[in-house]
Amino acid sequence: MEEIRTTAATKEDRYREILPQIHSLVSDESDPIANMANITAALKQTFTEFSWVGFYLHEDSSNELVLGPFQGKVACTRIGAGRGVCGTAFQRNETIIVPDVERFPGHIYCDGGTRSEIVIPVRHNARPVGVLDVDSYALHCFDTIDQRYLEEIVAIHAERILRKK
Ligand code: SME
Repeated sequence: MEEIRTTAATKEDRYREILPQIHSLVSDESDPIANMANITAALKQTFTEFSWVGFYLHEDSSNELVLGPFQGKVACTRIGAGRGVCGTAFQRNETIIVPDVERFPGHIYCDGGTRSEIVIPVRHNARPVGVLDVDSYALHCFDTIDQRYLEEIVAIHAERILRKK
């Protein structure tokens, strides 16, 4: 197993370097849990400014997002659709960037140290089936560069894994 390596200085270059590495990790394996676990590990390892990286997957029977593979501190196990940043991004089926979590009404604190957050819907046939949540202890950590590359990573994840289920 090769290590995830980055030598790049800028955030965009680091994303560009790890994209093919994540792609090869995911395309060689069909198990969704293994792939989600490795995607979160690759992102957390590459971006030391990320405090938490993880997936929440929608459970139809409860209409809740249930904690999936993640890297970081122990987190909330279930989030109702429409609740918090994760449930809102899921319900709207759109990425949400929160530069300052104190200014997002209804933000759910899993870790009191979190200052900013980005949540990307994971889609199957255009329908949201879960989210990727990334948190940081820094304010204004996430921008449209994170959005673009994280959306790409999640699209690879959804197309190469969920479709095979
Ligand atoms: N902050 C999220 C909850 C998930 S934890 O941050 C891991 C939210 O408001 O939905």
